[in-house]
Amino acid sequence: MKKITLQSEIEVAQTVAELSGMDAQLLARAKEAAKGAYAPYSNFKVGAALLMKNGVVVIGNNQENAAYPVTMCGERNAVFSAAAQYPNTPIEAIAITIISAKGGIDRPIPPCGSCRQVIYENEIRHQCDIRLILQGDIGKIYVIQSVKDILPLLFDASYL
Ligand code: THU
Repeated sequence: MKKITLQSEIEVAQTVAELSGMDAQLLARAKEAAKGAYAPYSNFKVGAALLMKNGVVVIGNNQENAAYPVTMCGERNAVFSAAAQYPNTPIEAIAITIISAKGGIDRPIPPCGSCRQVIYENEIRHQCDIRLILQGDIGKIYVIQSVKDILPLLFDASYL
């Protein structure tokens, strides 16, 4: 059988000093947003900060529930809030980070599959790639130019 190889491109910054001023600021806003997460069950606070094309920054964080599956991720809260407030404005970038109970997680936190799908829908809706800036509690930062890079074989409306 023939094989196909799927490739992803990720830029890696060792510290925030390597980021653009805007991306560094956005990551700082995401860290602030994580402080406000409601995560009493996992103690894993996720913060997201979106930069919109109109310059507005919209934040989101995870909101947990005693009925666990009702929990909503920080990224989706931010994207849905942005879409509700500015339905005609594309999102340019999203920074995602955490404050974990474990502490010291130095691997960048990727959005879960559902959040990737939601971010992709927003790219399609506005015909605008969304740059992802990902960090753990500390350490290196991944910069990814579009969620398509980390969502291979994605499902979209072209199949419908
Ligand atoms: N979580 C997010 O907010 N975003 C993700 O992409 C993955 C997981 C949250 C959900 C839950 O509150 C906690 O992290 C542990 O799974």
